[in-house]
Amino acid sequence: MQVINKTDIPEILTVKIEKLSNLGLGIAKVGGFVIFVSGACPNDTVKIKITKKNKNYANAEIIEIIEPSPDRIEPFCKMQKVCGACQIQYIEYNAQLKYKKQIVEDTMRNIFGEEVEVRNVIPSPNTMEYRHKIQYPIGQTKDSKRILAGYYKSGSHDLVNIKYCPIQPEYCDKIIDFIRVTAQELKITGYSEKDGLGELRHVVIRTSYDSKKSLVVLVVNNSSLSKNIKQLGEKIYNNLDNIQGVAVNYNNKKTNLILGDKTDITFGEGYIEEKLCDKMFKVGAKTFFQVNPPSADNIFRYVKDYIKNNFDKPTILDAYAGITAFGICLSDTASKVVSIEEVKESVELAESIINENKINNIELHQGDTGKFLSNETLLGRQFHVTILDPPRKGCTPNSLDYALKLTKGKIIYVSCNPATLARDLKYLKEHGAKVEYIQPFDMFPHTYHIENVAIIDLHSVQLPEQKLPY
Ligand SMILES: C[S@@+](CC[C@H](N)C(=O)[O-])C[C@H]1O[C@@H](n2cnc3c(N)ncnc32)[C@H](O)[C@@H]1O
Repeated sequence: MQVINKTDIPEILTVKIEKLSNLGLGIAKVGGFVIFVSGACPNDTVKIKITKKNKNYANAEIIEIIEPSPDRIEPFCKMQKVCGACQIQYIEYNAQLKYKKQIVEDTMRNIFGEEVEVRNVIPSPNTMEYRHKIQYPIGQTKDSKRILAGYYKSGSHDLVNIKYCPIQPEYCDKIIDFIRVTAQELKITGYSEKDGLGELRHVVIRTSYDSKKSLVVLVVNNSSLSKNIKQLGEKIYNNLDNIQGVAVNYNNKKTNLILGDKTDITFGEGYIEEKLCDKMFKVGAKTFFQVNPPSADNIFRYVKDYIKNNFDKPTILDAYAGITAFGICLSDTASKVVSIEEVKESVELAESIINENKINNIELHQGDTGKFLSNETLLGRQFHVTILDPPRKGCTPNSLDYALKLTKGKIIYVSCNPATLARDLKYLKEHGAKVEYIQPFDMFPHTYHIENVAIIDLHSVQLPEQKLPY
């Protein structure tokens, strides 16, 4: 295809959208030059206006939909266009799944460098009210001092005051509304990112899918508990139904991180209880836990079935373990589980869950995965299966090297970011591993996000003989 110069692209033009990018933007090509169109659906014919031209690509917005794609629907939320949360809500749900599969395939082709078998996406059991963790930034209007709570407009830090969000449990809207009104009555100020002033910075709510109870975390721009915030917490705890606890987290740094280091449990419990694979988990303010519990349950059961069908009482390494959700779900299938997680609160919660469930074959470790795997604690050990479930940035080469050394059967890599997954799979492949296939799961309907489980076989990796310790 002839690649044309960016200066040849007119400001306004009509294009047909070919596919979806990994950020949920429509991709059109004009003579080989790529244009990313926001709000577009594959097979739309749209008149667009170029908003930014770069060396190899341009960004554009839609001026007019000339012929809509058969997959285009009316978004169910009035705020879809202004709120940055549900980028692709205007695409019919089954078509979203089809395009998410295409995103994973394209990412593998571009970064991993080869075709990989990508299976059909397993849908989310719920496509509405599925998000069980919400994190609203708090602001305040200049003149009327009204407290604002919501999400940022796509690509900006302009706060959209959200009264109703159909992808999270309806009761969260009630909690947020109560906080808006009560905080104002108590003369609590909303945070301003510009000047770093204002007391209430964020409200984080975790709601249990199982018990329907919520933990409310008030994130404050302070280092100790003020009288007004304490009163706000007390009112939330005493006046609203189904509040398991209220916690206050202190974050007075100029940072994009939502939570600071210190959290006080001010009323009730500091966690909610959630069920996965018929086991009960405790989830605290800083604990990582999947936001869509029924979809997470699908992933955990899938991994468990895969291991059951391929191994007999294996030894399992659960790395980037969080509250050791995989390890705990797999404990009755395994002879031994060793887990590693860096957040202390998660390891402590894992310990109490293990004790309450009377599980006695899990060894918990707190620390950095790379350091732990290279530590002599593991000298001479080998695992039949290693589960890697890192954050979005993926694994370090050091963690991958040691995962290869310590595993004799399969690595199961669970990832929320196709790009870093593809990079890490490439590294594993270059070191002798074979990627068998990728099973995507939809954890975040109406967004471009996609969770993947990659099955990696290590039988052709050459390892020095090691003695099994178990
Ligand atoms: C995507 S979460 C997965 C958690 C768990 N497997 C689950 O499904 O609930 C990634 C976890 O890795 C932890 N983490 C991030 N970097 C780490 C590191 N270098 N070493 C150990 N744990 C780390 C995070 O605290 C988080 O709990």
